[in-house]
Amino acid sequence: MDCMGKFAVVHNGIIENYRELKDSLIERGHKFVSETDTEVVSHLIEEEYRGDTCRALLNAVKKLRGSYALAIISQDEPDKVFAARMESPMVLGIGESQLFLASDVTAFLKYTRKAIFLEDGDVAVLSRDGIDLMDFEGKKVFRDVKAIDWDIEAAEKAGYEHFMLKEIHEQPQSLKAAIAGRLDEFKGTVTLKEVSLTEDEMRNIDRIVIIACGTSYHAGMMGRYVMEELVGLPVSVEIGSEFRYSHARLDDKTLIIAISQSGETADTLAAVKEAVRRGVHVIAVTNVVGSTLSREATDTVYMMSGPEIGVAATKTFTAQVVVMYMLAIMLGCARNTISADKASKVIRALKSLPQKAQQVLELDADIREVASRFRDSASFFLVGRHLNYPVALEGALKIKEISYVMSEGFAAGELKHGPLALLANGTPVIAIATDSELYDKVVSNIREVKARDATVIAIASESNKTIDQVSDIVIRVPDACEYISPIMSSIVLQLFAYYIALGRGCPIDRPRNLAKSVTVE
Ligand code: G6P
Repeated sequence: MDCMGKFAVVHNGIIENYRELKDSLIERGHKFVSETDTEVVSHLIEEEYRGDTCRALLNAVKKLRGSYALAIISQDEPDKVFAARMESPMVLGIGESQLFLASDVTAFLKYTRKAIFLEDGDVAVLSRDGIDLMDFEGKKVFRDVKAIDWDIEAAEKAGYEHFMLKEIHEQPQSLKAAIAGRLDEFKGTVTLKEVSLTEDEMRNIDRIVIIACGTSYHAGMMGRYVMEELVGLPVSVEIGSEFRYSHARLDDKTLIIAISQSGETADTLAAVKEAVRRGVHVIAVTNVVGSTLSREATDTVYMMSGPEIGVAATKTFTAQVVVMYMLAIMLGCARNTISADKASKVIRALKSLPQKAQQVLELDADIREVASRFRDSASFFLVGRHLNYPVALEGALKIKEISYVMSEGFAAGELKHGPLALLANGTPVIAIATDSELYDKVVSNIREVKARDATVIAIASESNKTIDQVSDIVIRVPDACEYISPIMSSIVLQLFAYYIALGRGCPIDRPRNLAKSVTVE
């Protein structure tokens, strides 16, 4: 609410320039009662108000940067709801004698199937007389009323056959949400206001321990590589169920980062509780606000992915990796272990990621076609090096989880120490061979595999002209720096696993014997 309690605001999204706005509003005498970015909106409307809430809203939105779906009510016009949309979904429902406003049709599908999807830059006023739609200049706009013919379940899946596929395709948005308001490319800085460590405290840390299970563990492994490089500290990644019984040294110079999508995984929680008891600073990385982990940990950084229903984690994995990168840059800046140039380079790469993810998703049909050729394979090998090693592990886990096919990920350099013995004529080996410092080494590893007559499916960079000489099939992803190409490759593998499982008729969203969140030891 504003100072007078006249306007109440509901907001989905992030106001990126809220700090500047808030500072200047405070200078002009506004009193804030929360730490939220949302509160600036009500105070801005209050400031612009001259007896016409819609006009005040139009003036206020011009000052906002970021993403928002806003709904506002005013004491002076109690029979109206005002709304505005920018880069955050907002949809209006038209019932018999009701109007609805929500961020998703599923919220009102029980009452009406007629909906108007607002577009970026739309403002709507809902009243007894109907809906007034306008742009940010107040000029009337027209939007079609769409008839929604999905049942509730299909609507929740937004027309996709499975939640998993929907969630894979949501990654351009979820990645954008993960970085929104947190990156400053020009200064080369990351702001994670949830982290309460002072710069001095960050400088005092002498080791980082990452704790996680399942997919989150793989995100932790990627975080480790990046932190070792950018933060210059020893970093270990521990499986929750192992760490809780270990005798590891923990003290006030240790920083623990616990990653858990659900924030409810019993093994991760047990490890965190023990660490907090011993006085260690724990940063939780989770997607679920109010989860047990967020309550136990010292600080919580949210992934902002929105709900994930499919048991096999997809969009939360890529968001976790992005959060780990941001933590690495933040710690590296505080400790002076990362140059401003390097920080800006990684930040630029992260900012380009939503768009790159979109380009990878456009390969959906090609990946489906490749997967259809391997639908009946009895096993898969996945190999990669450095950041692409955890990507291989995660890809193998995805295939296992939803298609029940034996699949294993390996550090490509380890093949010769055992796994090569398993290769037979035609065994599919997926090699992650995007551009990186270790590219040539990966190609040597692919040759070792080819020499045993395995079938090589390479994931390579778009501009790579030579990989075809050592591979049977190549899936090309857009060129990108070595920090974010692994995230793109993991999206390829999510789709590959999905289509293998689909081809085999598996119950993709609810695989046998698995649970979305494992709350028992
Ligand atoms: C379960 C899920 C996995 C998940 C793991 C860890 O096994 O099926 O998808 O990666 O738990 O979950 P968390 O919520 O801690 O990330």
